[in-house]
Amino acid sequence: MSRTPVTVTVTGAAGQIGYALLFRIASGQLLGADTPVRLRLLEIPQAVKAAEGTAMELDDCAFPLLAGVDIFDDAAKAFEGANVALLVGARPRTKGMERGDLLEANGGIFKPQGEAINAGAADDIKVLVVGNPANTNALIAQQHAPDVPAVRFTAMTRLDHNRALAQLSKKAGVSVSEIRKLTIWGNHSATQYPDVFHAEIAGKNAAETVNDQAWLENDFIPTVAKRGAAIIEARGASSAASAASAAIDHVHTWVNGTADGDWTSMAVVSDGSYGVPEGLISSFPVTTRNGEWEIVQGLEIDDFSRARIDASVNELSEERDAVRKLGLI
Ligand code: NAD
Ligand code: LMR
Repeated sequence: MSRTPVTVTVTGAAGQIGYALLFRIASGQLLGADTPVRLRLLEIPQAVKAAEGTAMELDDCAFPLLAGVDIFDDAAKAFEGANVALLVGARPRTKGMERGDLLEANGGIFKPQGEAINAGAADDIKVLVVGNPANTNALIAQQHAPDVPAVRFTAMTRLDHNRALAQLSKKAGVSVSEIRKLTIWGNHSATQYPDVFHAEIAGKNAAETVNDQAWLENDFIPTVAKRGAAIIEARGASSAASAASAAIDHVHTWVNGTADGDWTSMAVVSDGSYGVPEGLISSFPVTTRNGEWEIVQGLEIDDFSRARIDASVNELSEERDAVRKLGLI
């Protein structure tokens, strides 16, 4: 077992996702079975007591990898020495809202957290933003952390990626493990574009294997893009365990690398690839290695895909303009 614990800061620790996430981190599923973790939990003052209750339960699990839990209501302290930061704390949408409707309510959370990361996080800090609207909240945090490389700020589209894997595996009648190279492009919103044209099922092109354009357009894409709303409709609350699971997957893949011949979807700062304006935090196909990600290059984008990628990226540009107007960046 490696001796030095990795410090993981989790915001919104007393929330739904927090409750599903913390036990998996503490049991070693985030960073691996040989990596001890020290948790630093951030909550608003009213929710600190509930976070303390969760910490008591973490103690009661007697996880061998858990080196300690500290709870804060001050961002500056919570991010001190953080190697990994999971920015979950934010209001979820309720029925009838789009995630973008949360910009004003949640955007303000991410400026001070970006500043706190800039001031106190470890040099190797990796940030995953889960709180919605995740891409633009990540942009806000990143903009307020000028000393941290922008590539360390990411937002979560892994849940969308996993949803797409599940839908495609059902349609094709194969296990998800036979599917590779799926991509979520753009925003974690209803405009996102789940792309199967470069995906493979058991080594063969997925779109050709499925061979059902009507299903792709009228079923697959809207089902994946609107799944968050469907969960809210069914559960009366936004997805939590699946979101926590995707957050675990995102960081695990970032740290441990993508499999040869595969890639994943992460919202990362654009370098202009695929016509996505530089600086936007947009979802791309990415490979990871040695703790660093790289956008997969050279994919051919046909008109069908181009129009959908552009629509989602335009929405991200509009969100960026909106938070500029709000004075958040
Ligand atoms: P929740 O309301 O159950 O929990 C949110 C927690 O955040 C609360 O305990 C609240 O006290 C805390 N919080 C609020 N402001 C905070 C701050 N400034 N600092 C620290 N903590 C703060 O919500 P949830 O279901 O856990 O969802 C959290 C967020 O994740 C929501 O914005 C939701 O929309 C989003 N989400 C994103 C994805 C994704 O795929 N990116 C998936 C699911 C949910
Ligand atoms: C999801 O995709 O489930 C989350 O972003 C929650 C939501 O508001 O849809």
